[in-house]
Amino acid sequence: MDHNNSNKIWQESVKYLAGGVNSPVRAYGSVGGNPVVMKKGEGAFLIDEDNNKYLDFVNSWGPLILGHCNKELVDVLKNQVEKGTSFGTITKAENELARLICENIHHVEMIRFVNSGTEAVMSALRLARGYTSKSKIIKFEGCYHGHHDSMLVKAGSGLLTFSGDISLSSSPGVPESFAEDTIVLPLDEEEILEKTFESLGDKIAAVILEAVPANSGLLPQRLEFVKKIQILCEKYSALFIADEVITGFRLGFSGFCGKYNIKPDLVTYGKIIGGGLPVGAFGGKKEIMNHLSPVGKVYQAGTLSGNPLAMAAGYTSLKILKEQNVYEHLNNLATYLKSSFDKLIMPALNAKSFTIKLVQEESIFWLNIREKDSDELIRRVDKIWQDAAGIYKQIFWHMLENGIHIAPSAYEVGFLSHPMTKEDIDFFINNLKTAIDKID
Ligand SMILES: Cc1ncc(COP(=O)(O)O)c(C=O)c1O
Repeated sequence: MDHNNSNKIWQESVKYLAGGVNSPVRAYGSVGGNPVVMKKGEGAFLIDEDNNKYLDFVNSWGPLILGHCNKELVDVLKNQVEKGTSFGTITKAENELARLICENIHHVEMIRFVNSGTEAVMSALRLARGYTSKSKIIKFEGCYHGHHDSMLVKAGSGLLTFSGDISLSSSPGVPESFAEDTIVLPLDEEEILEKTFESLGDKIAAVILEAVPANSGLLPQRLEFVKKIQILCEKYSALFIADEVITGFRLGFSGFCGKYNIKPDLVTYGKIIGGGLPVGAFGGKKEIMNHLSPVGKVYQAGTLSGNPLAMAAGYTSLKILKEQNVYEHLNNLATYLKSSFDKLIMPALNAKSFTIKLVQEESIFWLNIREKDSDELIRRVDKIWQDAAGIYKQIFWHMLENGIHIAPSAYEVGFLSHPMTKEDIDFFINNLKTAIDKID
């Protein structure tokens, strides 16, 4: 594959953009080499500046469940652009999207739109603190909730990609006084959680959990653990915040909480909710949401929040998801991916000194590279095998050079998209097999 144009653009990018990027993992730091520069998307594929075509499993890190340039979505956006992109007033579009969500998701009685998942979590935490008049937040090791100060502590995602060590995955620039109010606990440990509540319950405003932790690999949690969080929150008058920035509208329309009938006090959304445009949202019980300004005293605002272009993208995407059997197709593909993996990849791994477990939560998947002969599902970030990144790097480059775009990090998950077919999954699996065969 020729990457001349990509390389030229990258060399320009590093002159003007910090680290050449606007979001760290895009820099290929943990897989090495120059990032490929994309210019166009078409259904399940991305096309780079040298006209190479890639089957895309990154899907903009999750938002593009409908793939690239869905026709219906593009038409709606063109139409809206001609009417205006932002008015700074109330619009019908934001109302329609809010109604679609509130009428279909049992734990969202009211919602507010913001511009990213980071903003959604930041605002939900402020609301939780304002509502409970308490200050401490419990988060879990390896869960990523955006790049605002209080959540950049042992946070996974890009921080883990670059340090390779969860104990180092926090950011300079976050004052210790901020971090002091963030209590970081291990996932999957009810007892530690309970003890923390026993000693600090009167100070804990909220517990935030990535519904299915998907920023340090994919670490599905036991339902009992999630329920325990909810019980303890109720007992100690803290709020349970489910971060569904990744899982919202992906694990079915009502996300993880709808699927497992969990009723969090607040939920945060991002990614799919904006149909590829920058949108986030937080919502939940009316009684809590009414503490937000202008009705309540907890201040939260945004110049471009709820703008008609983003709302049109979100509304159209969610309507398609709700009405067009998207999840059925995605789940069929996910099942096919698993059976193909078992049939072709498992035997190929026999001769290797490592193994790979395919971890899946519907259309989200993770290639969990691990020591040979270990098969149990891991639920904690400290159980991730340290040698995985070196093996993943070889897989990544083989896949890219053969027309498959997977995340440039061993700790990031992959996403299936609606335009994908079984033939696309075959293409992925066959190339994965060749990549594995080539590794010593
Ligand atoms: C679970 C979760 N929460 C919050 C965020 C932050 O969202 P954004 O990148 O839109 O700010 C992310 C981003 O990946 C995420 O995965």
